[in-house]
Amino acid sequence: MAVSSPMVLSLLLLASLTALLVLAPRLSPPPQPAVAAAAGEDAPPRPARGGGLKGAASGGGVGAAGVGEEADDLRLFRRAALEAAAGEEAAGPPKVAFLFLTNSDLTFAPLWERFFAGNAARFTVYVHADPAAALRLAPTPSFRGRFVAAKPTRRADASLIAASRRLLAAALLDDPANAYFALLSQHCVPLHSFNRLYAALFPPSPPPSAAARHRRLPSYIEVLTGEPQMPSRYAARGEGAMLPEVPYERFRIGSQFFTLARRHAVLVVRERRLWRKFRAPCLPEAAQDECYPEEHYFPTLLDMADPAGVARYTLTRVNWTGSVAGHPHRYAAAEVTPRLIDELRASNHTHPHMFARKFAPDCLGPLLAIADTVIFKD
Ligand SMILES: *[C@@H]1O[C@H](CO)[C@@H](O)[C@H](O)[C@H]1NC(C)=O
Ligand SMILES: *[C@@H]1O[C@H](CO)[C@@H](O)[C@H](O)[C@H]1NC(C)=O
Repeated sequence: MAVSSPMVLSLLLLASLTALLVLAPRLSPPPQPAVAAAAGEDAPPRPARGGGLKGAASGGGVGAAGVGEEADDLRLFRRAALEAAAGEEAAGPPKVAFLFLTNSDLTFAPLWERFFAGNAARFTVYVHADPAAALRLAPTPSFRGRFVAAKPTRRADASLIAASRRLLAAALLDDPANAYFALLSQHCVPLHSFNRLYAALFPPSPPPSAAARHRRLPSYIEVLTGEPQMPSRYAARGEGAMLPEVPYERFRIGSQFFTLARRHAVLVVRERRLWRKFRAPCLPEAAQDECYPEEHYFPTLLDMADPAGVARYTLTRVNWTGSVAGHPHRYAAAEVTPRLIDELRASNHTHPHMFARKFAPDCLGPLLAIADTVIFKD
């Protein structure tokens, strides 16, 4: 035994090294881990890992995304487009990827945990947290280790599009079973149970084949035209700046909070022509009120590329009544009632609203109090 054990040890070592080499690229895709392991359970999360410095340095406070594209982003998007297009067959049920775009604490994580509970095989979570923002809350189990390499984001700026693309790319690379990609913020809350959402996204009608079924699944993204603010939004980068790629007649507007089908997520990370246009900075005089590229890039792109494949509405309810400075109504704790949940769910479309925003952090308690009796009771 004494003779053979060093050999056994070295064989074991060799085996585990081989396993590491085989597994490593899948678990942590280069150039940086798509899903970086966040700090341990008790320490505050450190989402700044990777990418942050570079983004901050080149941003200089003026449109972090700029006109050029950083090499690491470019590599990530290319790789996601290539690998996703290779059509890896996913084992098991299709999953919903929840993409959280945040620049503050994920206050509603406890509510999302209740939403996710019991559905481990059918969802994944990814978080893009602005590295400049200090997050104080430690991630809850579903969010732990799910932070993607992030760069600074600014409101009304192409950096929000870049962050959304990073989330899509990370989710595409991480799990071939991810079939839908729901973009959410830290102010979003669920309005229905996970089962209700899942049944809406994956209708039970028996399909001829899984592949054919996936081709037919629509993306839930708002696509509007003829809104009063569109001429000035279109001209925000100067006369003719969007031409020839985006003529005014093809320019669209819609909420940035979408739920994209996998084929459209691939389309987004692969796309470069429109992205180059939309990431150009707005003119200084337009930057304040007319520059919200994140409300235009996705609906314009998808309506050009696959108009029949999008539902043209979003599953995420927002209340623009009495909006101030481009911010929608923000619900406070006193407004959270069973009746509000009912009102927010109501929709004129095929599906009710599944998510809603924006909720102030103090809504967590009142929302948890009605979670089982109202929100997750369909
Ligand atoms: C929308 O917000 C306004 C305040 O701006 C509020 O009076 C109204 O009740 C809200 N609507 C819903 C459905 O919550
Ligand atoms: C549905 O459509 C009606 C009529 O246009 C409108 O009054 C109502 O506000 C709509 N409801 C929702 C939830 O959008």
